[in-house]
Amino acid sequence: MLSSALTRALALFGLIITFLLPTTPADASAPLRQHAAARGKFIGTALATGPLAGETSYRSIAGAEFNQITAENAMKWDATEPSQGQFAFSGADAIVDFAVQNDQQVHGHTLVWHSQTPGWVQSLGAAQMRAAMQNHISRVVGRYADNPAVVSWDVVNEVFDDNGNLRTSFWYNTLGQSYIADAFRAARAADPDARLCINDYNVEGINAKSTAMYNLVATLRQQGVPVDCVGFQGHLAIQYGFPNDLRQNLERFAALGVQVRITELDIRLQTPRDATKDATQATYYRNVVNACLAVTACAGVTIWGFTDRHSWVPDTFPGQGAALIYDENYQKKPSYTAVHDALAGGTTDPTPPTTPGTPAVSGVTATSATLTWAASIDTGGSGLAGYTVYREQGATDPPLAQSTGNTVTLTGLSPNTAYQVYVRARDGAGNQSAASPTASFTTTGGTGTGACTATGTVQTQWNTGYVMQPVTVANTGTSGITGWTVTFTLPAGHTVTGSWNAVLSVSGQNVTARNAGYNGTLAPGASTSFGFQVSRPGGDTRTPGGYDCM
Ligand code: XIL
Repeated sequence: MLSSALTRALALFGLIITFLLPTTPADASAPLRQHAAARGKFIGTALATGPLAGETSYRSIAGAEFNQITAENAMKWDATEPSQGQFAFSGADAIVDFAVQNDQQVHGHTLVWHSQTPGWVQSLGAAQMRAAMQNHISRVVGRYADNPAVVSWDVVNEVFDDNGNLRTSFWYNTLGQSYIADAFRAARAADPDARLCINDYNVEGINAKSTAMYNLVATLRQQGVPVDCVGFQGHLAIQYGFPNDLRQNLERFAALGVQVRITELDIRLQTPRDATKDATQATYYRNVVNACLAVTACAGVTIWGFTDRHSWVPDTFPGQGAALIYDENYQKKPSYTAVHDALAGGTTDPTPPTTPGTPAVSGVTATSATLTWAASIDTGGSGLAGYTVYREQGATDPPLAQSTGNTVTLTGLSPNTAYQVYVRARDGAGNQSAASPTASFTTTGGTGTGACTATGTVQTQWNTGYVMQPVTVANTGTSGITGWTVTFTLPAGHTVTGSWNAVLSVSGQNVTARNAGYNGTLAPGASTSFGFQVSRPGGDTRTPGGYDCM
């Protein structure tokens, strides 16, 4: 038998060894929250009270995998104050209690919103409505102000419409814009330590709505209104494309001094799901997590539920679903692995994808050409994330386009110009393949009467609208121009709802865009751009065409 002194010495030795061992990255099989915590981020889920009370698998996955919780509905006004002055916290408390038990932080959602707010609030006059808002915020925030698990609140939710105007909700119609600042001040008074957020959807990319949000946050902060954080909901759909400027957008908000976070991530698809859709969805999840990881001010990512068994998507978007990272039977989907591996740091995949095949060129016009190549394969585990097409041009080869699949249409090319292009594949860990062999083609002559060309790209879209940005206007001639006019045609049923950096006039489906005062002058070879936003019949993904520039 060892003497107790020796036992103590051995125990101490073991302790020293433990401290001296390098800290290893979280194990590949570790839950999401362990990897997220190691990166200084949260990975969260929204929780619904029904399954939380009734389903063991729901509780155990929610507790094991996530370190942050948002109540999907239980903290909304209709749940917490269904009639005036009658507060009800059973659902909210159940969520907070669960989070405390599982060592998770809680984000309060949401104090002031136009939806899920009882009729009695909506019919109040201005003075009473303001008082009811302040009382509601004080009671709901105040209830959890001393609970260390509850760290942040969505103070106002969805204050913008799709065009970036302030939404003409009953709040706005009764109180004017001042309700926003008042709500933040009331929340700060109720809990001086809580982080206070403004939250919205379709603001993930840089577009008219996110720019309106940016301007509002900047103005409020200049006025000393306590806005600490901006929430980007992240209700995405694989058929509408990924907002590739998400990271850049998060960074411009971060530069205002606010924390940013992805608050309601789900990535829906047209059901039924299949392996291809699952893979695309996984890429989107990975891209969102990587964008947050890349931005220091991004606190984390909350997924809007975790299992397809309980998701708002099929009820809200007919024909769509399967938007989450576990299936209806609590089995992990490829999207789970994508989130996991992104959080784990991609260190598990050192192997780049195989080299893409030689691009085949088709459909060459004055300004566009389509490339198709034999797909790459990624065996390293992080999965194929997409391709970048480069123009071979000497010392640095500029990227011309990105795609998720093995084909892309290049737009914005110059007429009468020879191009040499090649493709590289990327995987989820950011490894790039070798370059494919190059392909060559020459664009045709322009159709415009002048020496300029124009092409547009869809920057972001949602079911009932999209943003064309940039529409690039290039002087392809040999002398300078001092003013330009671009014409194009909108698909039937599509209407322009806003524009920037050009003056638009619309006649039926024909649009004429003239330069703004400050961007009409273009030296030979120079280009500028403008943008516009369009409202469309739900799901009609046709885009404007027939760009002509003179
Ligand atoms: C949704 C819930 O998921 C549904 O259960 C409920 O019926 C409606 O609201 N933006 C938000 C969330 O801020 O509160 C919404 O949640 C989804 C859109």
